[in-house]
Amino acid sequence: MRATWTVLILALILSLLTVQTQTFCPEGFNSVDQNCVDINECEDDPEFCGNYTNCFNTDGSHYCQCKEGFKSGVVNFTAAAFTCTDINECFENKDICGPNASCQNINSNYTCSCKNGFASSTGVEIFHGRDNVTCRDTDECKNENVCGLNASCINTQGSYYCVCNAGYALKSGKSSISGQEEQCEDICKIDDTICGNGSCLHETSGHYCACSAGFTNYGNKTGRCTELHCGVLKDVNNLTEKFDMVQDDLKQLSESCLKLSGSEDSKDLNGEDLLTVLLSMIDQLLSAGPVKDNRKISTFLDMVEQVLRFVGPLIKTPRTKIFTNHTELELLVHTGSAIPQGLKTLSSKQAKVDIKMEEAAGNPSSYPGFTTVSLLSYSNLEESAGGFFSGMKKNESQNFKINSKVVTVSVSNTDTKHLNEPVNITLHHLDHSTQTAHTCVFWDSSKDGGSWSDRGCSVVESKLNYTVCSCNHLSSFAVLMALYDIESPFELQLISWIGLSLSLICLFFCILTFSMIRSIKSPRTTIHLHLCISLFIATLIFLAGISQTQNKVGCAVVAGMLHFFYLAAFCWMCLEGIQLFRMVVLVFNTNFKTSYMMGGGYGVPAAIVAVTALINRDVYGTKKYCWLNLDSIWSFYGPACVIITVNVFFFLVTVWKLAQKFSSLNPDLDSLNKIKAFTITAVAQLCVLGIMWIFGCFQFEKDTIAMSYLFTFFGSLQGVMLFVMHCLFSKQVREEYENILSQLRAPRKRAYSEFNYSSKANASRSTQDTGESHI
Ligand SMILES: *[C@@H]1O[C@H](CO)[C@@H](O)[C@H](O)[C@H]1NC(C)=O
Ligand SMILES: *[C@@H]1O[C@H](CO)[C@@H](O)[C@H](O)[C@H]1NC(C)=O
Ligand SMILES: *[C@@H]1O[C@H](CO)[C@@H](O)[C@H](O)[C@H]1NC(C)=O
Ligand SMILES: *[C@@H]1O[C@H](CO)[C@@H](O)[C@H](O)[C@H]1NC(C)=O
Ligand SMILES: *[C@@H]1O[C@H](CO)[C@@H](O)[C@H](O)[C@H]1NC(C)=O
Ligand SMILES: *[C@@H]1O[C@H](CO)[C@@H](O)[C@H](O)[C@H]1NC(C)=O
Ligand SMILES: *[C@@H]1O[C@H](CO)[C@@H](O)[C@H](O)[C@H]1NC(C)=O
Ligand SMILES: *[C@@H]1O[C@H](CO)[C@@H](O)[C@H](O)[C@H]1NC(C)=O
Ligand SMILES: *[C@@H]1O[C@H](CO)[C@@H](O)[C@H](O)[C@H]1NC(C)=O
Ligand SMILES: *[C@@H]1O[C@H](CO)[C@@H](O)[C@H](O)[C@H]1NC(C)=O
Ligand SMILES: *[C@@H]1O[C@H](CO)[C@@H](O)[C@H](O)[C@H]1NC(C)=O
Ligand SMILES: *[C@@H]1O[C@H](CO)[C@@H](O)[C@H](O)[C@H]1NC(C)=O
Repeated sequence: MRATWTVLILALILSLLTVQTQTFCPEGFNSVDQNCVDINECEDDPEFCGNYTNCFNTDGSHYCQCKEGFKSGVVNFTAAAFTCTDINECFENKDICGPNASCQNINSNYTCSCKNGFASSTGVEIFHGRDNVTCRDTDECKNENVCGLNASCINTQGSYYCVCNAGYALKSGKSSISGQEEQCEDICKIDDTICGNGSCLHETSGHYCACSAGFTNYGNKTGRCTELHCGVLKDVNNLTEKFDMVQDDLKQLSESCLKLSGSEDSKDLNGEDLLTVLLSMIDQLLSAGPVKDNRKISTFLDMVEQVLRFVGPLIKTPRTKIFTNHTELELLVHTGSAIPQGLKTLSSKQAKVDIKMEEAAGNPSSYPGFTTVSLLSYSNLEESAGGFFSGMKKNESQNFKINSKVVTVSVSNTDTKHLNEPVNITLHHLDHSTQTAHTCVFWDSSKDGGSWSDRGCSVVESKLNYTVCSCNHLSSFAVLMALYDIESPFELQLISWIGLSLSLICLFFCILTFSMIRSIKSPRTTIHLHLCISLFIATLIFLAGISQTQNKVGCAVVAGMLHFFYLAAFCWMCLEGIQLFRMVVLVFNTNFKTSYMMGGGYGVPAAIVAVTALINRDVYGTKKYCWLNLDSIWSFYGPACVIITVNVFFFLVTVWKLAQKFSSLNPDLDSLNKIKAFTITAVAQLCVLGIMWIFGCFQFEKDTIAMSYLFTFFGSLQGVMLFVMHCLFSKQVREEYENILSQLRAPRKRAYSEFNYSSKANASRSTQDTGESHI
C-alpha cells in the first residue's frame, strides 16, 4: 500500500514536471517532442523582414539587415521595425564613376557610362565604379570634313568646334560653329562695305583693306576706310594766317595727316607722340600772349580740331589725360566693331562734357570701328578771343565778357554740324561774384572771320559758379557774361563832368561861406557846412579816383573813402531833414548838440564802412570801378534808401506846411507867382534833401538810361542847389556877401562894418530861423 502511494505520488510529480516542461519553452522556441526547438522566423515568410531585406535566424530569435544597395536607419533590426530603401549611389558618392562619366542609379545598384564626347578606355560602355574604366576624350577633328571648307576644327575636352580660316567668316556673325550648320565664306564677299571706301583684299593672314586716296583706316589693316580731310593742315606753308613760331610742329602734324589720308603706309605714326606735339604747339602759341586777331584764332581752333580728329584714332589707351602749362586734355578712345552706347563724361578742372557715345560714333552704316571723344581746355585763350562778339545779337547798352575757359570738344563723328541729341557742357565761371545773365556760345569761324555765336546753344542751368550749356553741334565753346554796366554815352559823361565841376565850385563857396562868416554860424549852418564838406570830398574823390583801377589797394581805399563820404553826405542830409522838420513842423528853436550831430554825421558812416570792410575786404574795388562790388552795394543803398525814405517824409510835411504858409503869408502875391516860388522852393528842397538819389537805386539794373540822365543831372547839381538855396536865397548871407564885396572895394571901412553886421545878424536871427528863405 505504502509502495503504491509512493508510486502514485512519484507518477504525479513526474507528470506535473512533464507538463511543466512542455508548456513553458522560452519565446522563440517551440516544444517539439517535449524539447524546446528554435523557430526559424526567416524560413516561414521570405518577406518577414520587409522588402529588400535579408533575414537572419538566431537561436531563439532573428535579425534583419537591408540587402546590398539598400539602407535603413540601423544595421540590425527586427521584423517590420524599419523599412529598407534604395541607396542612390550616384548621389551619395559623386565621383563613383570617375571623371567625365555619368552615373545612373538603378534599383539596388548603379551603372556608369562615358559622357558624350568621351569613350571608355576598355571599350565597355556600361561599367561599374570599381572596373578601373576611364573615360577618354574622343578627338572629333580626326574625322576630316567635319567642319567643311575653309574652316578649321578645334578639339576640346568632350567636344569640338569649327572656326573659319583667316579671311573667311560666317554670315551669321558667329565666331564659331559646331559642325557644318553654316559654311565659312569670304569676308570680302559677305559684306562689301567692310572696307568702306577701300578695296578688300586677301593675303595668307586674312583680309585687309586698301584705302583709296583721301581715306584712311588709321593703321588698322582690317578697319573700314573713312574719309580724312586735312583741311587747314593740307598746306601749312600756304596758310593765310602765319604761325611762324610753331612752324616745325605744324609741318609734322600736317605731314602725318597727309600720310594717313594718302595711300602711303602709315604704320609708323604714333598717336601719343602726335598728341604731345599738338599740345606743345598750343602751349607755345598760348604762352606768347593774347592774339587779338579773330582770323588767326579761327585758323588755330580749326587746326586743333583737325589734329584731334585724326590723332584720336591712333591712340591706344582708352582714356588719356594730359596736362601742360596751358592746356588740359582728356581723350576717350573706344575700339571694336560694336558701336558704344550710353553717357560718358569728360572733365577738366574748369569744364565738363556729358555726351552720348552714339552721338560721338555717328552714322552706324559707316562706323569706322572706333569712337573718340576729346575735351581740350585752354588756360588763357579767353584773353585772345575776348573781343569778338559780332555774331551775337545785343542791345546797345549791353556788352559781353568771356566768363569761362574756352574748351574744344571734338568727336570722331565727322558730321557734328547737327547732333540728334545735344551734348551738355558744364563750364565753370571765372568770375562768380555777380549773378548776371550768362550765354552759351561757340566759336563760329565762318562769321566775319571768326566770332562767338550762340546759334544752337542754350543754357540748361546757370548758377553763380557754373553754367550748363546744351549744344546741338560741336566745336569750341565758352560762356559769355552779359555786362550791363553802362558804357556811359559821351553826353552823359559830359553832363556829369560839367555838373560835378560846377557842383565842386559851388560847394567850395558854400564851405567858405559857412565856415568863414561868423555872423551866420548856427547849428543849422554847421549841418550845411558838413553836408557840403562831405559832398565836396566825395565828389572830388569820385572825379579823381573812380576809375583808378590799376592799383588794387589804392582802388580799394578810394572805394572805401567814397563809401564813407557819400554815406556821410546822406547822414548830413538826414540831419538836414530832421532839423527842417523840427523847425517847420515842431517850431522848436532848440538845436542838436554838436557832438550828437558829429556822431550822427560821421560816426554812423564810419561804423557802416568798418563793418562792411570787416565782413569782406574784397567788397571794395571792382575790375571796372573803384566802388563797391555789386554784391555788397546794399551796404550803401541800404542806409541811403532809409535816409531817402525819412527825407521823403520830411519833404512832404515841409511842402504841405510851406503851401499853408504861402497862402497865409503873401496874400497880395498873384497865384502864378505863388506857384512859381513854391515850385522852386520845393524842387530845391528836394535836391538839398538828396531825394533824387533815389534814381541811383536803378542805376545798376539793366537798361535805365533815362534814369541815369536824371540821376547824373540832379546828382551833379546838388552842390549848385545847396549854394543857391543856402547862400543866394538867404537874405542874411546875401547881405554878408554884399558887405564883403563892398569891403573889397573899400577896405578901410572893414572894422566898422564887421561890427555892424554881426550885431544886425544877431538881432535878426530869431525871425529868420523860421523863414522860408532859409530852407
Ligand atoms: C514590398 O514591395 C511590394 C512591391 O514592390 C509592395 O507592394 C509592398 O507594399 C512592399 N511592402 C512593404 C512592407 O513596403
Ligand atoms: C552591381 O553590379 C555589379 C556589376 O554588374 C556587380 O558586380 C555588383 O555586385 C552589383 N552590386 C549589387 C549590390 O547588386
Ligand atoms: C548585427 O548582428 C550580427 C550578428 O549578431 C553581429 O555580428 C553584428 O555585429 C551586428 N551589427 C551591428 C551593427 O550591431
Ligand atoms: C573631363 O572633362 C573635362 C571637360 O568636360 C576636362 O576638363 C577634364 O580634364 C576631363 N578629365 C579627364 C580626366 O579627362
Ligand atoms: C584596378 O586597378 C587597381 C590598381 O590600379 C588594381 O589593384 C585592381 O586590381 C584593378 N581592378 C580591376 C577590376 O581591374
Ligand atoms: C576655300 O575653299 C575652296 C574650295 O575648297 C578652296 O578652293 C580655297 O582654296 C579655300 N581657301 C583657302 C584660303 O583655303
Ligand atoms: C565712298 O563710299 C560710299 C559708299 O560706300 C560711296 O557712296 C562714295 O561715293 C564713296 N566715295 C568715294 C570718294 O569713293
Ligand atoms: C580694326 O578694325 C576692326 C573692324 O572695325 C575692329 O574689329 C578691330 O577691333 C580694329 N582693331 C584695332 C586694333 O583697333
Ligand atoms: C597758296 O594758296 C593760294 C590760294 O589759296 C593759291 O592761289 C596759291 O597757288 C598757293 N600757293 C602755293 C605755293 O601752294
Ligand atoms: C611750363 O612752365 C614752367 C614754369 O613756368 C616752365 O619752366 C616750363 O618750361 C613750361 N613748359 C612749357 C612746355 O612751356
Ligand atoms: C542734358 O541736360 C538735360 C537737362 O538736365 C537732360 O535732360 C539731358 O538728358 C542731358 N543730356 C545729356 C547728353 O547729358
Ligand atoms: C559751386 O559752388 C558750390 C558752393 O559754393 C560748390 O559746392 C559747387 O561744387 C560749385 N560748383 C562748381 C561747378 O564749381
